[in-house]
Amino acid sequence: MAIIRPALHHVTFRTSRLDEMIVWYGLVIGATVNFRDAHAAWMTNDAANHRVAFLAVPGLHDDPDKNAHNAMHHSAFEYESFADLMASYKRLAGHDIHPAFCLDHGLTVSIYYRDPEGNFVELQSDVFGDWQKSGEWMRSAADFAANPIGTFFDPARVLAAHEGGTDAEALHRAMRGGDFVPAVIPNIGLPV
Ligand SMILES: [Fe+2]
Repeated sequence: MAIIRPALHHVTFRTSRLDEMIVWYGLVIGATVNFRDAHAAWMTNDAANHRVAFLAVPGLHDDPDKNAHNAMHHSAFEYESFADLMASYKRLAGHDIHPAFCLDHGLTVSIYYRDPEGNFVELQSDVFGDWQKSGEWMRSAADFAANPIGTFFDPARVLAAHEGGTDAEALHRAMRGGDFVPAVIPNIGLPV
């Protein structure tokens, strides 16, 4: 029988910081609460009934060795444009929310934040502006095979260049090529 493919709908986190998570996801992705009680919440930033949810029952605790334990690494949200990604980076900096690390993956420009529980959230824009093209590039480009994780970039310097009028395509080439590598290479949430 043919596979009927369901669409990815939401992610649900365990948390002992329910209020902080609600505020953070509100600020970062513009999510609003559709329902909450003392021990759970469901939020969305589009027409779906929920996109992120939280279970906050007693008995949960932090993982001091999170980077070395098997688990989900990040969720990701995509903007329609590089300009929207940069505007959002700038807006969040105004709320004192700063990236954990930034990577030009070749197919996306990606800025990763750490939520109050230490889960990464990737905010991205598609380099090609077209999933068909970026998917084909991922499958076939020698550049991706040679560097699938990506090239780190310093978002403050990239924002300055963007606001100085450098276009997204030229900035992507420069980021991918290493022109905006930060002075200190951050840990990306993996064992060192
Ligand atoms: Fe990702």
